[in-house]
Amino acid sequence: MRKEKGNKISVIGAGFVGSTTAYALFMSGIASEIVIVDINKDKAEGEAMDIAHGAAFVKSCDVTAGDYVDTKDSDIVVITAGLGQKPGETRLDLISKNLSVFKSIVPEVVKYNPNAIILVVSNPVDVLTYITYKLSGFPSERVIGSGTVLDTSRLKYELGKHFDIDARNVHSYIIGEHGDSEIAAWSLTNIAGMSAEEYSEKIAGSTDMSFKTTIPKNVVDAAYKMIEKKGYTNYAVALAVTRICTAILRDEDAILSTSTLFTGQYGIDDVYLAIPTVINRAGATKIVDSHLLPEEQERLQASANILKKHLNEAGI
Ligand code: 2OP
Repeated sequence: MRKEKGNKISVIGAGFVGSTTAYALFMSGIASEIVIVDINKDKAEGEAMDIAHGAAFVKSCDVTAGDYVDTKDSDIVVITAGLGQKPGETRLDLISKNLSVFKSIVPEVVKYNPNAIILVVSNPVDVLTYITYKLSGFPSERVIGSGTVLDTSRLKYELGKHFDIDARNVHSYIIGEHGDSEIAAWSLTNIAGMSAEEYSEKIAGSTDMSFKTTIPKNVVDAAYKMIEKKGYTNYAVALAVTRICTAILRDEDAILSTSTLFTGQYGIDDVYLAIPTVINRAGATKIVDSHLLPEEQERLQASANILKKHLNEAGI
């Protein structure tokens, strides 16, 4: 039964990412209702029960497993379904497998949730978000990809460790593809009002700028390393999704590096990729196209070209 008041979030896919996302959303207290859908109904039911039994420790929230009909009138539908990378695979290697999954999921989501915001998390996230935009017929504001919100947190974490400061006091963005061609935007980086280079020299007392190479590489390699070690990633991505859902439901106008449809910014058009975007109750309402360094802009264009090539090859 749809609750009269409160926010409803449906999570499609009860794998590692979907179930951990449902758990993170449950703990965050932003939803009064969470519905988990998976082709493996037992798995969805098991995960929903396990999460719901924490009821005495969090704010009131119904967690159930269901079919698409049970997702009806969700405020947000988070899609995590599909295959994940295996060791050695890139995110882009997953396109053909996950494209067919999306062709079956998106029409069902749209049927029961014509007014929802769809948040795509499955990989390759930029490609699948574009495909969801096309399949859904929704305005682009209401189709958002998790983009590099996670990678941006990884960058802040690494810079925070490097400079011995709280990651939350590092302001920066990873932009472009959520994948191998992503870019650490040093032009958008500041710590207490200083560029990373200035902070290093003035406050950390170091002229060694090799962190500008090593840290972005660590960020790009992060998922590969974890997949090698544990087979998948689930915790930080679930927090990234929760952050985006919170920005939507609380109408925050937060600026997050979601995967957003480009409509000419930086000369890029008709492709989804990560860029600082204003996120509020209406969805992804505005790309913040600030000044990038010429080299960053070139790399962003290269990233867009890679994604377009893959979309073309997939027949989209
Ligand atoms: C991640 O970056 C695999 O895309 C996933 O953790």
